[in-house]
Amino acid sequence: MNPLADKDRIFTNLYGFQDWGLKAAQARGDWDNTRKLMEIGQDAIIDEIKASGLRGRGGAGFPTGMKWSFMPKNPTPGRPNFLVINADESEPGSCKDREIIRHDPHKLIEGALIAGFAMRARAAYIYIRGEFIREAETLFAAVQQAYDAGLLGKNAAGSGYDFDVFVHRGAGAYICGEETAMLESLEGKKGQPRLKPPFPAGAGLYGCPTTVNNVESIAVTPTILRRGAAWFKSFGREKNEGTKLFQISGHVNKPCVVEESMSIPFRELIDRHAGGIRGGWDNLLAVIPGGSSVPLVPAAEIMDAPMDFDALRDLKSGLGTAAVIVMDKSTDVVRAIARLSYFYKHESCGQCTPCREGTGWMWRVMERLVEGNATVDEIDDLWDVTKQVEGHTICALGDAAAWPIQGLIRHFRPELERRIRDKQSGQLEAAE
Ligand SMILES: Cc1cc2nc3c(=O)[nH]c(=O)nc-3n(C[C@H](O)[C@H](O)[C@H](O)COP(=O)(O)O)c2cc1C
Ligand code: SF4
Repeated sequence: MNPLADKDRIFTNLYGFQDWGLKAAQARGDWDNTRKLMEIGQDAIIDEIKASGLRGRGGAGFPTGMKWSFMPKNPTPGRPNFLVINADESEPGSCKDREIIRHDPHKLIEGALIAGFAMRARAAYIYIRGEFIREAETLFAAVQQAYDAGLLGKNAAGSGYDFDVFVHRGAGAYICGEETAMLESLEGKKGQPRLKPPFPAGAGLYGCPTTVNNVESIAVTPTILRRGAAWFKSFGREKNEGTKLFQISGHVNKPCVVEESMSIPFRELIDRHAGGIRGGWDNLLAVIPGGSSVPLVPAAEIMDAPMDFDALRDLKSGLGTAAVIVMDKSTDVVRAIARLSYFYKHESCGQCTPCREGTGWMWRVMERLVEGNATVDEIDDLWDVTKQVEGHTICALGDAAAWPIQGLIRHFRPELERRIRDKQSGQLEAAE
């Protein structure tokens, strides 16, 4: 696959080599005649985003244009539409949205106006993770710049459309990244997911029709409209189109965040941008390709896999947020997954029983499996419990807690059994 050419990059200041401010952003092409982009009309914008094939970049990959089309076309004054932009980015391994906000915030703000206009929203709320202190400062300042320049507020960007953007800082809870927990938190309540239906497009923020989108999903929309749906669609495979920010961490020589074509094969992604696997390709053990919530994929299966939604789903994993966590053979893979289990136990909001009890139960068994301090039957019990949690909870945190363990059992059961055998024969203690 040809490398993504610099001329086709959307995020041209991803590494902060230039200033993030309005003037520099305008020199890079942001806010360039935004009014003209809006003049094609709300439904035409939604159709163009649909035609581009853009799928949500927050993890689930739901088609963005279709999501916007669910919003009421004639909001009443007492019940306006809202756009909520998810900048919570707490998924372990994910670190792209913060780069956008740090270095290219005007792409997000211009995107907020255009997306908000398309879905007839009165305002956008950007919910930013509490720990992102410097990013929040940049974002507040960038929003103020946009107001001062007449790009937001009354007659935003000279479009005749009135639109506000509010930045709201979270308090640092992973669950507030879940869209309905985010709405609760925005309303000043404890961030706990809501039962669906009603879906946010019917009753969301303050009971009004709402769409929640990821930062990257919104930030790419102005460029898609400027360059056309066909341009965006020309990258990646069918139904997995566009360019994408990959975040490569772990045992690679040069960890990085990079914009590439969707569907780039894993090996090319790593060799081209991350300097290869530490110790060479024979040293690769497994990869978590989409942030901590998705199951790991062993080396042999991922090596030549296209990095996209459908290919990774076929490998029983997922693209998620495209946070690619690379593990070489020095990794204690059981301990790594046990650590993730602890994270999910810690972050469970506790309102549904399978998740509240199951995450703790799974973590405790995982801790024992690290030491081999279990029986082989308990591996089957653990599998059963993951299946009792998966799909039986209010939100997808339950699934996110179950899937990494399922991936471990699916691909590394012999290692789990070896530890149990070694423990029983006294070898594990001797090895420690
Ligand atoms: C526990 C949990 C945490 C989540 N955290 C985030 C997050 O930090 N950022 C994000 O964009 N989406 C997150 N999501 C997904 C959101 O619920 C939602 O699907 C997404 O923001 C929609 O945006 P998109 O359609 O543009 O992808 C999370 C979901 C769950 C279940
Ligand atoms: S699945 Fe877990 S995090 Fe989600 S609502 Fe239920 S208890 Fe809360």
